[in-house]
Amino acid sequence: MCGIIGIASNKPVSINIINSLKKLEYRGYDSAGLATLINNKIDEKKCSGRVEELEKILFKNPSDGNLGIGHVRWATHGVPNVLNAHPHSSEIVSVVHNGIIENSDELKQKLEIKGAKFKSQTDTEVITLLITEALKTDNPLESVFKTLKQLRGSFALGIIFKNNKDIIIGARRGSPLAVGYSQDENYLGSDSYALKSMTNKISYLDDGDLCVLTKDSVEFYDEDKKKINKKIYNLSDDKNTSDKGDYKNFMSKEIFEQPTTAKNCINEYIDTLKKDINIYNFPIQPKEINKIVLIGCGTAYHSCLVAKYWFEELTTIDVEIDIASEFRYRKLRFNYRNLYIFVSQSGETADTAAALDLCKKNKVKTCSIVNAVESTIARNSDWVLPIHAGPEIGVASTKAFLGQMIVLYILCLKLAKSRDDINNASYHELLDRFKSLPESIKKTLKIESSIQSMAKEFIDAKGSMFLGRGYSYPIALEGALKLKELSYLHAEGYPAGEMKHGPLALIEEGLPVIVIAPKDKYFEKTLSNMQEVIARGGKILFITDHKKELINENIRFGVRVPFVDTLLSPILFTIPIQLLAYHVALLKNCDIDKPRNLAKSVTVE
Ligand code: F6R
Repeated sequence: MCGIIGIASNKPVSINIINSLKKLEYRGYDSAGLATLINNKIDEKKCSGRVEELEKILFKNPSDGNLGIGHVRWATHGVPNVLNAHPHSSEIVSVVHNGIIENSDELKQKLEIKGAKFKSQTDTEVITLLITEALKTDNPLESVFKTLKQLRGSFALGIIFKNNKDIIIGARRGSPLAVGYSQDENYLGSDSYALKSMTNKISYLDDGDLCVLTKDSVEFYDEDKKKINKKIYNLSDDKNTSDKGDYKNFMSKEIFEQPTTAKNCINEYIDTLKKDINIYNFPIQPKEINKIVLIGCGTAYHSCLVAKYWFEELTTIDVEIDIASEFRYRKLRFNYRNLYIFVSQSGETADTAAALDLCKKNKVKTCSIVNAVESTIARNSDWVLPIHAGPEIGVASTKAFLGQMIVLYILCLKLAKSRDDINNASYHELLDRFKSLPESIKKTLKIESSIQSMAKEFIDAKGSMFLGRGYSYPIALEGALKLKELSYLHAEGYPAGEMKHGPLALIEEGLPVIVIAPKDKYFEKTLSNMQEVIARGGKILFITDHKKELINENIRFGVRVPFVDTLLSPILFTIPIQLLAYHVALLKNCDIDKPRNLAKSVTVE
């Protein structure tokens, strides 16, 4: 992960570097640093912790060079402290890096034999010292090419040179890197989001590419050192949605934006006049599709799991789902009649992108369901279905998850109709039920105060469990993931029917157990599983859309969400589990938007 920025300008760059680093903090927030060129010297400033700390250092001791690089770190090699913070500089070169150099130990040994001295525990310093060594005989461009040849692993790099005060070199293998253009100023950045406040003209480096930036020019090279041209994209302007407004944090803003997310998504894909779904140009004719393979990580994977139930219910297509980090290393039999769907908010997740590359190498058809339409995954897939959720800043995914589910459900309906798996009447009826979804989400958000009270039951808890069956099973997994990442409380998500096969041993007096029980074909069965937990002392927190009396001596707390439709229940039941994780984290005083050890865009394996 980590975020990198580079600016070549005709005026001091450190303030813009700091502003961009603040935008990049979603990629890592263990430490921060920058280096600019002043008076023919590399001026490096670093801190552990947040960009705010770096800003304080600069306030006391400004760095006013016209060319510089900056970094926010998500630690891989070496603890998060000042020494390991980037940039890593020698006397003559300074480097920021996102990714992992897999052969760094081997390279380090070779350099040490030659007398090199390392200051940090990072893999990145190897790059600095290799370039420093190469600069003894070669120019900057040649030195970087020479160094890249020796590296194994993934990287995006930003490099400045003491003796070539006009240039920044960027290079990419595996980790994303973008270039931005402006008048008398050019930029390098981990993503377009970091550059958006400065420009809307962006190019993306492909794997193996290298770029040389000055304030007036940008040149691109491929890995064979051949000069290449890059397409320039005009970015859409969604600056206003990346402001947290009156909300305490981005996560609460994003939770409460979900009626709009649903509305935007529905408006984009559903033509209410024609009573049809605007999805065309399938890469495989719907009737020809043999199997759908859904791939994602974390929360995005959970949306794949919900979709599996929908596809099985409404279509005759076989469905397989996989976690991207597993999929990419499995011995797979690819089939050109399978449609491989990649789900990702950021569109930059390393494992998901690698799984997509694997499919492309095997020449099968790919589709991506992404929030960031300018991302690597979107650009590399045959077919893109955007989720239109707007920028999601909170590290824990909320509105993007809801958007992913909605797009997957819409895709499922369209496929079911196109293959004649459902008839016209059912198609129109299902489309119709969908229309009230934004309003139902809005009503569901009104349960916040009840959830706030429920959250108090977790203050002294040692752990917790989330149980659900059918569509509620993925939501139980998502509930547990959200609680873990936000409140650092151990949580397990389980299919309720699976409890007696092991996890029931965890139930002890007072353990909070969240039972997700919509009024569906599993309802009675879920209640029976709940009784097994009650009999062993579990504290039941019950979430349902059933009219049944909620509170009795066995149920400690009950919350009711509006009933819409069994098929849509996973979308609505997502709201209480998000709010619950949010309020438990708030009570425990956790950093809601930037939970410890995590980052928003996971660009390392
Ligand atoms: C959890 C969360 C993560 C992401 C996962 C995939 O709240 O946000 O589990 O869902 O890292 O990220 P994307 O969707 O960007 O591929």
